[in-house]
Amino acid sequence: MRRAVLLCCLLYCTGILAVTRPPGIITQPRYDVYFKAGETVELPCVAEGKPNPRYTWEKNGLQFNPSGNDDRTVQLPNVGTIVINRTEDKDEGILQCFAENDYGKSATINIYLREAKLKDFNVEMDTTYTPYLGESLTLNCIPPESIPPPDVYWVIKEQHGSFTPVNFDARVTMDHEYRLRFTNVKASDGQNGNSYACLAMNRFMRKSTVGGSNFIQPRGSSEVQRSVTYMWASPSDLYGLRGDEFRIKCIFAGNPTPDVHWKRTDGKPLPDHVKHSSFGQELVFSSLEYSDAGDYECWATNALTPQRVQRSMTLRVKSRPYWIEEPQDVELGIGGTAHFKCLAGGDPAPNIYWFINSVPLSKANVNSRFKKVSADEVMIVNVTKEDAMVIQCNATSKLGYIWGDVYLNVLCKYQLNPQETQDKEDYEEEQLLNILEIGSNV
Ligand SMILES: *[C@@H]1O[C@H](CO)[C@@H](O)[C@H](O)[C@H]1NC(C)=O
Ligand SMILES: *[C@@H]1O[C@H](CO)[C@@H](O)[C@H](O)[C@H]1NC(C)=O
Ligand SMILES: *[C@@H]1O[C@H](CO)[C@@H](O)[C@H](O)[C@H]1NC(C)=O
Repeated sequence: MRRAVLLCCLLYCTGILAVTRPPGIITQPRYDVYFKAGETVELPCVAEGKPNPRYTWEKNGLQFNPSGNDDRTVQLPNVGTIVINRTEDKDEGILQCFAENDYGKSATINIYLREAKLKDFNVEMDTTYTPYLGESLTLNCIPPESIPPPDVYWVIKEQHGSFTPVNFDARVTMDHEYRLRFTNVKASDGQNGNSYACLAMNRFMRKSTVGGSNFIQPRGSSEVQRSVTYMWASPSDLYGLRGDEFRIKCIFAGNPTPDVHWKRTDGKPLPDHVKHSSFGQELVFSSLEYSDAGDYECWATNALTPQRVQRSMTLRVKSRPYWIEEPQDVELGIGGTAHFKCLAGGDPAPNIYWFINSVPLSKANVNSRFKKVSADEVMIVNVTKEDAMVIQCNATSKLGYIWGDVYLNVLCKYQLNPQETQDKEDYEEEQLLNILEIGSNV
């Protein structure tokens, strides 16, 4: 029986086929791709496989022919990459590229192609502020609609029409809602009659827009001394995402300028990956970790206020799905057992959805040798040459998803299963087969 199978395979493998491999995507875009209307956008999609894969695209779940009725879009030769010229609103959508040969169908992530936008500020009246020297002051900024969100700065509008950035220090800083905060006003804040303005920049548009003018005319001839009072702080209940940069900040008014300090109030020290910034007012977590969840306190004092003025906040850390064990391509001989694992962590815990050749497992045509071992593991026992396939898994939560796309390739040799006792004859046959196979590849 085994001999028959082997001989059959031998003829099949050596006689008809060279080495074959299901496709595997090697280059694809990010989750979000922004374009500036009128400009060209390229969505790369390149796969490897033998024979060379054919490429198809879907847009919003429907078949999408790049070189269809619209001459602005072309697919580059021999790859799936598409280039869209003179982009328009209607190019927005969710796109997915597929690479297919006779041994399987591989798929990219879903790419959210979006038009970058930056509106202008609402027309604002010029505003003049007349604080007493030594008092605190806040200038508001409501940035215009921007996709993706803008970078926001404060600038001084110079007489000749240029802008210079406002220098931040312990006394003058920006809160996380873009307001400019003066912990105490000095005569120099008048800027010789020049105004302050908020500037929003969208780097995908390579464009910025400037808000209304804010003039400061400090009053008084000498600075009033002020004790420390709370001005602005990050919310008392916050949550951040594991792996992201994260910042928490406290701003206190007072003259002399208050000194700001931080500590954890749950008994743990501040770890090394947390840095102080913005002259002590801000804590920066370069890459947030679960262990950063906890209770924090900022406090400030100045010469008039030896007793601390404080704010406390509780930080929770959630996580987008991430790989604990990423699925891997499997290449093995006939009769072997293939395992595919898709172990993902996250908070909330991700759900795992499996696909075979880009079709959901529930709708895929799998035989009885395919077994779902658990939510995050599948296996195929006693594989045959026909089992070559691409297996995908989507580990998804409300915070996002990660996508595994790997293949099973079955080689033209019999798999020696260690647990299986092989009799001598089988072993010799195996050797012969390998020799023949090597011979046929030369
Ligand atoms: C897209 O623009 C590029 C560069 O301007 C040009 O070479 C190409 O022919 C254009 N393709 C289409 C389909 O219009
Ligand atoms: C994975 O699942 C999420 C949630 O259903 C979905 O938004 C996303 O598009 C899926 N990704 C792929 C590549 O199918
Ligand atoms: C594997 O397939 C061969 C040939 O079809 C069969 O003889 C054998 O019993 C199978 N083994 C298992 C473990 O299913």
